[in-house]
Amino acid sequence: MKNVGIVGWRGMVGSVLMDRMQQEGDFGHINCQFFSTSQAGQPGPDVGKGSSTLLDATDISALAQNDIIVTCQGGDYTKAVHGQLRSSGWNGYWVDAASSLRMNDDAVIVLDPVNRHVIDQAIDAGKKDFVGGNCTVSLMLMGLVGLFRNNWVEWVSSMTYQSASGAGAQNMLELVHQMGELATCQHAGQTALELEKLVTSKQADADFPCDQFGVPLAGSLIPWIDRLMDNGQTREEWKGENETNKILQTKTFIPIDGQCVRVGAMRCHSQALTIKLTQDLPLTEIETAIAEANQWVTVVPNDKPQTIQQLTPAAVSGTMKIPVGRIRKMTLGPQYLTCFTVGDQLLWGAAEPVRRMLLILLGKL
Ligand code: HSE
Repeated sequence: MKNVGIVGWRGMVGSVLMDRMQQEGDFGHINCQFFSTSQAGQPGPDVGKGSSTLLDATDISALAQNDIIVTCQGGDYTKAVHGQLRSSGWNGYWVDAASSLRMNDDAVIVLDPVNRHVIDQAIDAGKKDFVGGNCTVSLMLMGLVGLFRNNWVEWVSSMTYQSASGAGAQNMLELVHQMGELATCQHAGQTALELEKLVTSKQADADFPCDQFGVPLAGSLIPWIDRLMDNGQTREEWKGENETNKILQTKTFIPIDGQCVRVGAMRCHSQALTIKLTQDLPLTEIETAIAEANQWVTVVPNDKPQTIQQLTPAAVSGTMKIPVGRIRKMTLGPQYLTCFTVGDQLLWGAAEPVRRMLLILLGKL
């Protein structure tokens, strides 16, 4: 059995990873050690193998005892430890949920239902760093890989509706705290405009809870995610294009651009996509290619009852489903396709590609 060190298992992505590993019986395939940046020496989780003691996540020689390190600890940890561990001569596999290594030439962005061949070639070529992709990118590719695989995509414009979870656990708590504050504005018998006035005034209160987002998200939205790039994109928008092309290892770069927006959803990212197709294809052929691309994607018929029941964050949260709906040709012309997709930001958007990469390295997938 391989020795696997797990770092960052208590955070939000790490907790989702741990749950999935328990559900799928993954701990039965590994000798596992748990590491902590702050609680070394304290009891670790019991994953069905008895009690364990947490090791120091910055102890290079302890980390180096492992064949595989899986980390959900975040980018700062990766930056602090990965280089040191490699310089010490450790040649194991590093599997990471954070973004810091993603665009390194030596690192592979993993999303095996989409790029298993890239992963397999990288393992054969002796690559050792495997990193989960940005959540919006992974969720878009899980939904649309059927189109990319057929070389039907000339370019994509993606408009995102990203959940609070993508900003972090504290942001999710703050969103609901904000909702609670707004709910106190409701009084019996008031009109909608009376309520709206109180809500708008509450959002502007100096003590309205905004420490994480900086502004109200409940009852509003924030059209900005991550930092500004030189070309006016945000880094989240930049990732959409650059990570997608890296994951697919495209020979001809596919332009992908749009606007990334934070909305008051809890843990599902949604995206409205405009796709310029390379040719005019019948809609049925397009829908079949989307639906048959992997076992998680489903095509939602373009009607109101099924759309509002199946194609929303509320319907998808906590599941592995990747519904794609609102599929139609646009009035812009027969090569312009629009669709809408939703996916769980913590599952396919973060923990699941990492979990599956571990299974690939163990020869279990
Ligand atoms: N950057 C994403 C977001 C989450 O802010 O929603 C991580 O991929």
